[in-house]
Amino acid sequence: MKGIILAGGSGTRLLPITSVISKQLLPVYDKPMICYPLSVLMLMGITDILIISTPRDIPHIEGFLGDGSQFGIKLSYKIQDEPNGIAEAFILGEEFIDNEPVCLMLGDNILHTAQLSQYLKPCTALTEGASVLVHKVHDPERFGIAEFDKNGQVISIEEKPSKPKSNWAVIGVYFYDSRVCEYTKRLERSERGELEITDLNKLYLKKKQLTAMPLGRGTAWMDAGTPESLTEASSFVKMLETTQSFKIACLEEVAFRMKYIDLAQFKKLTDKYPTSSNYHKYLKEIGDEYA
Ligand code: TTP
Repeated sequence: MKGIILAGGSGTRLLPITSVISKQLLPVYDKPMICYPLSVLMLMGITDILIISTPRDIPHIEGFLGDGSQFGIKLSYKIQDEPNGIAEAFILGEEFIDNEPVCLMLGDNILHTAQLSQYLKPCTALTEGASVLVHKVHDPERFGIAEFDKNGQVISIEEKPSKPKSNWAVIGVYFYDSRVCEYTKRLERSERGELEITDLNKLYLKKKQLTAMPLGRGTAWMDAGTPESLTEASSFVKMLETTQSFKIACLEEVAFRMKYIDLAQFKKLTDKYPTSSNYHKYLKEIGDEYA
């Protein structure tokens, strides 16, 4: 399965910060936001990943992550000239996807759950249809809401419903079979002029090929798109990292633990950071454990 991180957009809710820098490069506690979705894909075993962003931001993201070879993965980049909607990822990414199943993750979604790769195995093994991750929310009127049966078969999806049929919100992690590019081409732009991901999901729903994967207890999900949620995400990561003494979304660690790189490569990455930095100390301790 291939992976796409959509890391463009307008970031209007985070202005004026986003008039200087991409939302997805803003710090979430101790690392740039994009590390979080990237680590989720890597933990799912996805190593061939396309990052889509704006003409302004692609050079900065590429400058930070490079071609991914230092993490034993393959990163490529594509420019989205205008924020034409989330589903445009499958137009821009058609050549990259190359008729394979694909997971799309939004670049501002922070997802944390133990045993992620185990739990999401049915999604990463998907070869037919589509699957969306859903998370329980208190304010369903603000989200895309899925209604589904006990087998996870989706019955309806409604955007920001005034009378929600459930409180399961569709979050920014989506899995599609190889027909996704073909289906996206059938979509018409919405009133706001975008190719809507909900319309794409509704196409799969119409064919009874859309399943929902509920994220249960022990899973945290946040979209860090407003000053409040960005601050909350930072506090959450700080609290987790301080209390459990493990970092989350530490790309070097994920690459090493997933065996995408060996100990020698891991140590090389560790030494890129000055010994005075806490990040170096953290990586060094892991390397020493395995030495
Ligand atoms: P949104 O949060 O819906 O939009 P945004 O990031 O432009 O922010 P705002 O609403 O404050 O203006 O986007 C969700 C994610 O998808 C985010 O990571 C940006 C990305 N995105 C794109 O890369 N291209 C697009 O055309 C759209 C709509 C979103």
